[in-house]
Amino acid sequence: MMEDIAMHILEILMNSIKAGATKIILKIRDSLNDDVIAISVEDNGKGMDEAMTKKAADPFTTSRTTRKIGMGLAFMKGLAETCNGSFDIQSEVGKGTVVKASVQKLNIDTPDLGDIGEMMMEAIQSDENIDYVLDYSTDQNQFIFESEVVKNELAGVSLLEPEILLWIKEYINQGIEQAKEDTL
Ligand SMILES: Nc1ncnc2c1ncn2[C@@H]1O[C@H](COP(=O)(O)OP(=O)(O)OP(=O)(O)O)[C@@H](O)[C@H]1O
Ligand SMILES: [Mg+2]
Repeated sequence: MMEDIAMHILEILMNSIKAGATKIILKIRDSLNDDVIAISVEDNGKGMDEAMTKKAADPFTTSRTTRKIGMGLAFMKGLAETCNGSFDIQSEVGKGTVVKASVQKLNIDTPDLGDIGEMMMEAIQSDENIDYVLDYSTDQNQFIFESEVVKNELAGVSLLEPEILLWIKEYINQGIEQAKEDTL
């Protein structure tokens, strides 16, 4: 099953990709001062109406045709509840969706953040044409990754080239580690 927070976030990103987003902004606030890891995923996909937004995190709600249950949001909500956090979805048809979830950082049930670089790599592999923004912050530092910037620097080389994907993964993980280090 889902082990770390990154795996949960990937599910939320996959929802945004399925919703036809062209831009996805992922914010992770990793705060010792507030004892919280707060996640927000904002997309400009097709959105949901009010009724759908309300029941989207119900395990039996899905627009999938392949099976009758949709668990991505339900699992994320469950994680937030287990880990003394919060969960919220805001959505508007034709505009997009914002999913926010938080967990208590120093809660015994809170899993590791996991491999955010790997997770971003997998999202990019699912759809390289989306502009991804990752904004990771601690109490002192902020690290921002923008796929569009990398794309512009590559001047036509695909993000899907294995070396590029690996570079992205490492670049992100180093940025996050650095942001964490100065906090200690
Ligand atoms: N970002 C989003 N934009 C638009 N609709 C969304 C978004 N996220 C979720 N939904 C809607 O909510 C439903 C439930 O999402 P959820 O992730 O819980 O399950 P699923 O994606 O259907 O299946 P699973 O995640 O198990 O593969 C989706 O089927 C989709 O209709
Ligand atoms: Mg899903």
